[in-house]
Amino acid sequence: MSLKQEIDRRRTFAIISHPDAGKTTLTEKLLLYGGAIQTAGSVKGKATAKHAVSDWMDLEKQRGISITSSVMQFEYDGYCINILDTPGHQDFSEDTYRTLMAADSVVMVIDAAKGIEPQTRKLFKVTAMRHIPIFTFINKLDREARDPFELLDELEKEFGIGTYPINWPIGCGVSFKGVFDRNRRQIMAFNEMHRGQEKLHAIECDITDTEKLTELLGPYQSDELVDQIELLDGASFEFDLEKVRKGELTPVFFGSALTNFGVEPFLEYFLQMTTSPLPRVTSGGDSVDTDNDFSAFVFKIQANMNKAHRDRMTFMRICSGKFERDREYLHVQGGKTLRLSQPQQIMADDRQIINEAYAGDIIGVFDPGIFSIGDTVCAPKMNVEFEGIPTFAPEHFAMIEQVDSLKRKQFVKGVEQIAQEGAIQIFHEPNSGMERVIVGVVGVLQFEVLEYRLKNEYKVDVHRNNLPYQYIRWIRNKDIDVKSLNLTSDTKWVQDFKNNNILIFTSEWNINWALEKNEGLILEDFNKG
Ligand code: G4P
Repeated sequence: MSLKQEIDRRRTFAIISHPDAGKTTLTEKLLLYGGAIQTAGSVKGKATAKHAVSDWMDLEKQRGISITSSVMQFEYDGYCINILDTPGHQDFSEDTYRTLMAADSVVMVIDAAKGIEPQTRKLFKVTAMRHIPIFTFINKLDREARDPFELLDELEKEFGIGTYPINWPIGCGVSFKGVFDRNRRQIMAFNEMHRGQEKLHAIECDITDTEKLTELLGPYQSDELVDQIELLDGASFEFDLEKVRKGELTPVFFGSALTNFGVEPFLEYFLQMTTSPLPRVTSGGDSVDTDNDFSAFVFKIQANMNKAHRDRMTFMRICSGKFERDREYLHVQGGKTLRLSQPQQIMADDRQIINEAYAGDIIGVFDPGIFSIGDTVCAPKMNVEFEGIPTFAPEHFAMIEQVDSLKRKQFVKGVEQIAQEGAIQIFHEPNSGMERVIVGVVGVLQFEVLEYRLKNEYKVDVHRNNLPYQYIRWIRNKDIDVKSLNLTSDTKWVQDFKNNNILIFTSEWNINWALEKNEGLILEDFNKG
């Protein structure tokens, strides 16, 4: 297969959801269709090995400090698919956001009874920043659900995005009868068979064939369906693939991941509509064609929790060309060529050393501590540098001090190195040194990881004093006299290690106050690096 064909058949996407909407269940079913795992895994038993498919770093799991997000690759119908898992629950961290930087499209799973939930909202915001395709899977139709029109309306109003239902649910809960495929104009009937692993056979039924429709759905539901489809065809957005690809229109699918209903048709439509790997933009604003020589960027660094080995695992998204194990590559920011040590790829529940990989793929390499988030690695003659990965807004802050002041050096080194890996963000009060560091994190578990690592790797015990701030804004005005700003008394001025001016707030109300009382003040909730 040519380089171009290898790249064209790749699809790299992330699945996002609020915890419990069904992300793990859907991922498993997709892997199952791809033959990447053998058992369906009635996801009921979360503690079973099957559920552990996406939690491959067992050691960290046992310690309760897992911060891993994994990548699963499988083949389906000639496509090579990479699913990026976005950690949720207590594992939610900046890594979750950064993973989205490595995806070419996103699948958003929504619980049909709940609609948009807080974590969906946060992840959507980060996704929308990139203008990549977003597909919506509205899950759990086998249970009582909200009105589908209302759910679409919520997506459009809250996210400012058009919706295009590819299929339409017929009832829900005990009266769930299946979905109507708007493209094929067919009913796909739901029955008890779908509670197993059977492949779905669509029952062909034209929407105008009243007799057959009534036979399948009963008079009430068939009338309701006809009315709803008429309404949809007349009132909803036109399908426009260009808009889908720019993330302006989300194709919506209704289904039930647990009962395996609607998953395969979803996968098939998704693969047709989403894009193969997209060219990535350099810091100079040029884009690098995917069939160019090898280039990749670092989007995640996983600290090795094994005390005996200080090395880390660095994850890179390949942006162009072919990676070959024995070639020498340039680490652009370090200015050095190197051979990547033990390149690995994760195939469902297994890690494998790999010899080659292509644009769209994710590889993990052992890192003696040279890489930072956002770094570029490429064929030496290319010497490109990709746009950095933004720093996302932390939502929890704490003041950290070393217990033993004699350990100051180790403390500073540890905090700085852990921040450089991207596991925490560090700030200081203006004109003060590093005696006291303000640490900001996206997920509270990151505090525990920090304390654990400082103690184990750097032999430093720390005091942590949690701070009440929840919001951070980078001040974008240059040469501003921050001291003279009119701010509420519980707003704090801090700086990052590049001495960028930052305000941290306890409430949104205080942010609005700052904006209203200080004309011309420009605040941004992420830092472009
Ligand atoms: P997550 O990764 O998004 O957190 O969700 P996950 O797949 O783990 O699913 C959360 C719960 O929802 C699971 O129940 C799962 O079986 C259930 N679920 C997922 N998809 C469907 C669906 O289509 N229909 C129904 N009825 N349930 C679904 P659980 O294992 O019992 O976990 P829990 O409820 O005890 O947390």
